[in-house]
Amino acid sequence: MKFTASLCLAIAVATGALAEGADLVIAPPAEGSVSKQVGLEAWARIYEVASHPRCANCHTGPSDRPMWSGPTYGKARPHGMNIRAGESRIGAESLLCSTCHTTKAEDWENANEMPHAAPRVAMGWALAPVEAHWFGRTSEEICAQLRDPDLNGGRDVLEIAEHLGHDLILHWAWAPGGGREPAPYSLQEHVDDILIWGVAGYPCPDT
Ligand code: HEC
Ligand code: HEC
Repeated sequence: MKFTASLCLAIAVATGALAEGADLVIAPPAEGSVSKQVGLEAWARIYEVASHPRCANCHTGPSDRPMWSGPTYGKARPHGMNIRAGESRIGAESLLCSTCHTTKAEDWENANEMPHAAPRVAMGWALAPVEAHWFGRTSEEICAQLRDPDLNGGRDVLEIAEHLGHDLILHWAWAPGGGREPAPYSLQEHVDDILIWGVAGYPCPDT
């Protein structure tokens, strides 16, 4: 099991002193304490988040087109105005995402109040890497990808959890404003589920 070494290390670090993000606690359950069944239940919730429009709209895989989907968009369709992310994933080849998805700090409290305005976060807005393809994919497919270090940016479960805590786009996904539907559960619950799933040995529905 290729994750064991890094997972043990991660747990040793985390039980020694709880790693805390700004408002996030990263506390994996003790090794061996989570059954496969409980791990699969955590995975089912992780999939609800990953496949939600607030996440999947940017995780569009080989297509370099972000998606507009979810209740506020009506029928799912590629991003309007023929926006393409290009190989850069930030639109460097045509029109930068940041042209509209600005990071300006002015009126920050109300940055995302206005319906149908381009969402803004305090960091660069970009399409997710090709390997992190979630839009339209099944629970089995996303599960297999997320536990494969070749496809998940080489991250173990603790690194995925930390990445989630530091990623300001994700904080937006749970408080999107403008009438948009937030991702289900909460960032903390999602991180807890990732850790439960990892300690259970990354079970996937088909294995
Ligand atoms: C604005 C576009 C955008 C949205 C919305 C978005 N992501 Fe991402 N995501 C990215 C980018 C860009 C990366 C690559 C960042 C990096 O590797 O540092 C990424 C990488 C990831 C990764 C790293 C693992 C991998 O397979 O590469 C995870 C996990 C992830 N996102 C989870 C989420 C979740 C959960 C949501 C919704 C709550 C979400 N993302 C919403 C753009 C987005
Ligand atoms: C010309 C302006 C413009 C550019 C450039 C632009 N966007 Fe957008 N984007 C918008 C607007 C406006 C919305 C909101 C539309 C709505 O809510 O009806 C939006 C919404 C989105 C959404 C949906 C967010 C959600 O879940 O509600 C994603 C994903 C997205 N953009 C990704 C990108 C990416 C990635 C790039 C760069 C490759 C980019 N956009 C470039 C204007 C732009």
